[in-house]
Amino acid sequence: MSAIAPEVNVYVGPGEIGQSLRQDVASGLQNTPKRLKPKWFYDDRGSRLFDEITRLPEYYLTRREREILYSESAAIARLTCADTLVELGSGTSEKTLLILDAINQRGTLQRYVPFDVSEATLRTAADEIAERYPGVGIHAVVGDFSRHLEHIPKGGRRLVAFLGNTIGNLHPGERLEFLRTVRSTLTEGDWLLLGTDLAKDKERLEAAYDDAAGVTAEFNLNILSVLSRELDANFDLEGFDHVARYDERQEWIEVLLRSRYEQTVDICALGLNVHFAAGETMQTEISAKFRRETVERELGGAGFAMEHWWTDSRGDFALSLSRPR
Ligand code: AVJ
Repeated sequence: MSAIAPEVNVYVGPGEIGQSLRQDVASGLQNTPKRLKPKWFYDDRGSRLFDEITRLPEYYLTRREREILYSESAAIARLTCADTLVELGSGTSEKTLLILDAINQRGTLQRYVPFDVSEATLRTAADEIAERYPGVGIHAVVGDFSRHLEHIPKGGRRLVAFLGNTIGNLHPGERLEFLRTVRSTLTEGDWLLLGTDLAKDKERLEAAYDDAAGVTAEFNLNILSVLSRELDANFDLEGFDHVARYDERQEWIEVLLRSRYEQTVDICALGLNVHFAAGETMQTEISAKFRRETVERELGGAGFAMEHWWTDSRGDFALSLSRPR
């Protein structure tokens, strides 16, 4: 059997990305406190740095989730009888392969639908998977998962995977809305596989987001390079420090950039001059941490019934499997 050429549907063009970047930055930097959206971390360099983060000794999330998939992907394939894997925010493919292999071993794998904002990332992943699984249809969707989930192709028995605690980037209200939208695109026989990082002690969490080698600091600062390049701004990377702190009340990690001194940054493409006080912080990301009861309750509130819950041997990370109810 020869590889079927991947089909790629593009719903966000480079122009549109430019426009939402301008909007987000204009409103985020004029807000008090200042904030930026984590989706702007991921240009080519940012994606490479994140990949490096997943291999850091302090960043346990990826290893723990992989451990769960190693032991449970056969069960996931069997329980869901899936013939289609839809992967939201697909990125790098190692975890994907574990699930695809498990479905493939049952002989039911028909389709892989990677969904990501980055067209380049998607095309590379799609070509790799096409070669590895000849006869499997690949239908890549280039879109923003807050707006284009409706374009996920219908039909078959679909397993929608949202892994890596990416859901943790959303605030509680956004999470509910997101899960409801996912729910509305699914029908009887489809499943949602969700990866969530679990609440744990502050020291380990803060170390995971402020590693000794400084990769996470570089990743965080890279958002300023993205703004400088895309919006003709003059951020000085030496002028900001990386800060990661765990908010024990909200149960989320807050990732910030802190201005080392008073400074004004010009964002020429927006006609903005943004003032930073010495020590002023700007939030670039939250990464929420979860408990079983809250995951189950939130899924329930969005119209899902959580049927399975797996954690790694240390109880650091969880995968849950839910279906529409
Ligand atoms: C890709 C959102 C899951 O929150 O752990 C890692 C991003 N930021 N280190 C996370 C991230 C800093 C990551 N997610």
